[in-house]
Amino acid sequence: MKVVLINGSPRSDGNTARALAEMCRVFEKNGVETRMFKVGAKDIRGCVGCGNCASLGKCVYDDVVNEISAELRDADGLVVGTPVYYASPNGTILSLLDRLFFSAHYSMAMKVGAAVAVARRAGTTASFDVLNKYFTISGMPVASSTYWNDAFGGSPGEAELDVEGMQTMVNLAENITFLMKSIALGKKEYGIPKNDKRFMNFIRPEEGAKAVKAVQAVKSVKDQAVRKIFRKGAKGDTAPESEADNKAETEEQS
Ligand SMILES: Cc1cc2nc3c(=O)[nH]c(=O)nc-3n(C[C@H](O)[C@H](O)[C@H](O)COP(=O)(O)O)c2cc1C
Repeated sequence: MKVVLINGSPRSDGNTARALAEMCRVFEKNGVETRMFKVGAKDIRGCVGCGNCASLGKCVYDDVVNEISAELRDADGLVVGTPVYYASPNGTILSLLDRLFFSAHYSMAMKVGAAVAVARRAGTTASFDVLNKYFTISGMPVASSTYWNDAFGGSPGEAELDVEGMQTMVNLAENITFLMKSIALGKKEYGIPKNDKRFMNFIRPEEGAKAVKAVQAVKSVKDQAVRKIFRKGAKGDTAPESEADNKAETEEQS
């Protein structure tokens, strides 16, 4: 069993590091191999959406993202720890994850995912939500704990005083271990579920053309009705009578 841990903080011994270290102690006790990447002080650019990874199988920018991707390929779990910056995961970790998840052309399905957010005071749950979205679009079961996976601390080391936060990390690592082992057994017994993929944009040219025709048809009915009303008005009778008249009137009111 192997877990890859990514720490987005530039403080190599900061509070995110303390939270992840607590988890590593449990993994080691459980015989789970760990591979830690501290990326916060690295110059990690964002995804440029070039799509070259589709043919290369890795990102065109050959940096730590590709290194992590190679390590993650045969791992059973992924833990992403972030310091909270302006109530979100920090920019470095987001740049890294966009490129990692977009460029990895192997399946992440059934690798256990867990997000950890560390803040001085606020923004942990919003950050937690953002990070979990990488896992849940990738068929990765998300491990949980006895609280949302956060710890509090401002100055480096303060998070160790958050006893509930540290216990949350211990329980999270225990649950990740259990899930990884259970999934390994399940794979042997049942295999990985086959998920077909369909890809569709919300804007579809043929549907768009149909919609334009429908709008034009309504407009034509409306124009006819308005002309009719004017004609009747000229004769002193402006009340709509026909179905087309009523339709046009409803349309005008909406
Ligand atoms: C640019 C920046 C923005 C921050 N924004 C927040 C915030 O929105 N909420 C919060 O509680 N703490 C915020 N903090 C404080 C850090 O989350 C806190 O110090 C945390 O312990 C950092 O983790 P680290 O020691 O692993 O780097 C911010 C820190 C920085 C540098």
